[in-house]
Amino acid sequence: MVSESVSSHNLRIQIAGLDMPNPTMLASGILGVSAETLRTVAEAGAGAIVTKSVGLKPSSGYPNPTVIQVECGFLNAMGLPNPGIHRFVEEIKSLKDIGIPLIVSVFGFSPEEYAETSSIAVEAGASAVELNLSCPHVKGTGAEIGQDPNMVRLTVKSVKDRVDKPVFVKLTPNTANITELAKAAASAGADAITAINTVRAMAIDVETFKPILANKFGGLSGAAIKPIAVRCVYEIYETVNVPIIGCGGIRSWRDAVELMLAGASAIQVGSAIAFEGLSIFKSICDGIETYLKRKGFRSVSEIIGLAHKK
Ligand code: DHB
Repeated sequence: MVSESVSSHNLRIQIAGLDMPNPTMLASGILGVSAETLRTVAEAGAGAIVTKSVGLKPSSGYPNPTVIQVECGFLNAMGLPNPGIHRFVEEIKSLKDIGIPLIVSVFGFSPEEYAETSSIAVEAGASAVELNLSCPHVKGTGAEIGQDPNMVRLTVKSVKDRVDKPVFVKLTPNTANITELAKAAASAGADAITAINTVRAMAIDVETFKPILANKFGGLSGAAIKPIAVRCVYEIYETVNVPIIGCGGIRSWRDAVELMLAGASAIQVGSAIAFEGLSIFKSICDGIETYLKRKGFRSVSEIIGLAHKK
């Protein structure tokens, strides 16, 4: 059950036809793929949930270390470990009654693989899929596909041709011009754009002289990347007419509002859960409500993109 305080009428929001009791979502990759933990997130008051990315075949990912804490965030390179979509359908089916949209994050090594995996996820009951076109360090997928506007277009198109549920496209900030990627996604019929995924980064141990992550390179998340997310959301909002979901370093209602003023219709929370726990969803919602009241807005939808007003 979603509690009263996080489903008040002025926080309710629709994105690509999905009805959310509030604009907060669990970001992909946080809290794994088990139905039980995802259910806990729904009970804590999230407005929607995005699963860890799932591919066509099972994969155990990279060896440890896969996650380290750095200044203002985390650096992680898990290598997209996942049970494979065929096993994951059981988890999707068992979450039918969570009462909020369940968005399955999908990756693949070709447009066809993204489409095949997405269609199995939707068949099992996913409310929408979010295409991971932005993992910054796994060969042959994620940003390797998602940095090329033509490949973004082909991938989104092949998924749109196969599924009849909303298709979200998660973009990478590791590019010279994120608006080119957003245009490509929009032209192929993306129903929403999630911005941003992690920033490709690295840490080195000065005692051993070695890169710390087993994979050497990983994705930086957390407070360090919030200003990058704000800039990307702002630029995408100026370029395409597709709902944007803001993601990157959100730790408080203030960060959530900032992303919404830049143009986000909803926001995702990831790294901050490690510090704040699941109560962060309720505290962000309560903070947004107080802000709306203080500023005289009737609905959270009124603040979307306000920073663009001349
Ligand atoms: C992984 C995937 C991502 O999309 C990301 O941003 C960071 C890490 C991974 O599974 O390694």
